[in-house]
Amino acid sequence: MDQSRDLIARRRNVVPPAVAQFAGDATAERAEGAIIIDSDGREVIDFAGGIGVMNVGHSDPTVVEAICQQARKLQHACIHVATYEPYVALCEKLVDMFPHGDQTRAMLVNSGAEAVENAIKIARQATGRPAVICFTESFHGRTLLATSLTSKVGYKAGCGPFAPEIYRTDYPNLFRDGSRLDVEEFSERALDSFRRFLVNTVRQADVAAVILECIQGEGGFVQAPASWLRGLRELCDEHGIILIFDEVQAGFCRTGKWASYQHSGVTPDLSTWAKSMGGGLPISAVIGKASVMDQAAVGTLGGTYGGNPVSCAAALATIRRMEELDLNTRAEQVGQRIRQRFLELATRCPQVADVRGLGAMQAIEMYEDDSRTRPATSLVHTVIQDCLSKGVLVIHAGSHGNILRVLCPLVITDEQLDQGLDILCHSIMECSGQTESSPA
Ligand SMILES: Cc1ncc(COP(=O)(O)O)c(C=O)c1O
Repeated sequence: MDQSRDLIARRRNVVPPAVAQFAGDATAERAEGAIIIDSDGREVIDFAGGIGVMNVGHSDPTVVEAICQQARKLQHACIHVATYEPYVALCEKLVDMFPHGDQTRAMLVNSGAEAVENAIKIARQATGRPAVICFTESFHGRTLLATSLTSKVGYKAGCGPFAPEIYRTDYPNLFRDGSRLDVEEFSERALDSFRRFLVNTVRQADVAAVILECIQGEGGFVQAPASWLRGLRELCDEHGIILIFDEVQAGFCRTGKWASYQHSGVTPDLSTWAKSMGGGLPISAVIGKASVMDQAAVGTLGGTYGGNPVSCAAALATIRRMEELDLNTRAEQVGQRIRQRFLELATRCPQVADVRGLGAMQAIEMYEDDSRTRPATSLVHTVIQDCLSKGVLVIHAGSHGNILRVLCPLVITDEQLDQGLDILCHSIMECSGQTESSPA
C-alpha cells in the first residue's frame, strides 16, 4: 500500500480537496478491460468505469492503435482554423447513428458540461427565448451554466450567483413520489404538474428548452416513464420549446441501446453526448435537428480543442469496437446479472429500499430503516471503503449519497462480474449488520 499512500499524500499536498475523491483512496497505474492495476500493483475490479466512461473497456488495443496513429499524423489543427477528416467523419457517423429529424447536424466539444452549454446556446438562439427548464436530481456538469442546471446542492456550495433564467421542477420519480400509483396514472399526474409549472412558474412563451436525462446518472439511475416522455414531447411541440436529452452518462450502450431515449421511442430536438463516446479521451457532441442547429450564429459555438483529431480518432475506433463487440447485447446480459444479485440481496437486507436501472446501469438505494426517512449515507460510504480494500472500485450516487451504482466496463467477463458482485453484496450485508456466514 506504500506507493498508493504516497501518491495520495502527494495529491493532498497540491490538489485542493474540492476536487473530490468518490472512491476512497483508490489509485490507478494502468488498466485493461475491467481491471485497474493500482500504484502498488494490486488488481481492482472496476465497477465505476471512470464514472461511466469506459464502456468499451480500458486500453482496448484497437482504440489505443487509433490514438497512436492519429497522434503521429495530426495532433491539433483547431476546427475553426483548418478542416480535418476525423472531425467530419465522426460527425457523419453520429448523424447517421442518431437521426433527429429530416436532416441532422453534429458539433464537437470536449466535455459533457461543454456539450450542455452549447446545446442551451443553440436552443436560445433558435427560439429567441431565455428560459431553460431542468429537473430535481439532475446533473449536467460543473461549468457555471451546467452547475446552475444541476440539482444537487453539494455540487453548488458557494458557487453562485448562478446563471439566470433557470427553472427547476420535479423529475418524475416513481419510487419516491408515486409508489402507490400505476405508472400511467403517475405519468399523467406528473404531466399535469408540468403544465401547471408552465403557468405558475415560467411563462411557456419564454421557454427556450427543457433539458433532462431520460435515466438520471448522478441522481441515482431514476428512469422517467416512457408515457411521461411522450407527453413532454407533445407539450414541447405545442409550445415551440426545444427538447434536449442529456445522454452523457446513459449513452453509447450503457442501457442496452445506443441512446437511452431509444427505449421510449421519443426523439429530442437536441442531444448531448460525452463519456463513453471517446473511450477515455475527452470529447463530447451536440447532435440535433438541422433546422434548430443552423439557427446559431457563426462564431457562437465550438472552441480551440473541440473535436481534437486524436479524440475524434479515439471516438471513431470506440464506436466501431462497440459495434463489433455488440455491446448493447452485452449491456443487457451484464445488467440482468447485476439486477438478479441486487434483487436477491434486497430480500435479505432491509436497508436496500429499491433496486432499479436500465440495461447495465443498475443501482440500489439504501435507507437506515424501513421508514425510508433516513438515507444510509454513511453506510454506503463504509461499503465503498470496504469494497476498495477487498478489490472492487464502486461509487455512489444520489443527493444523499445513499445509492450504490454500477458503471463497469461492458467488456467485463462473467467471472469478474460475479467476483465483484460477491464482494459488493457480502460487504453490504456485513456493513449493514446483517449476519452473513459466507460471501453472498
Ligand atoms: C448526465 C450528465 N451530463 C453532463 C455531465 C458532465 O460531464 P463532464 O463531467 O464531462 O463535464 C455528466 C457527468 O457526470 C452527466 O452525468
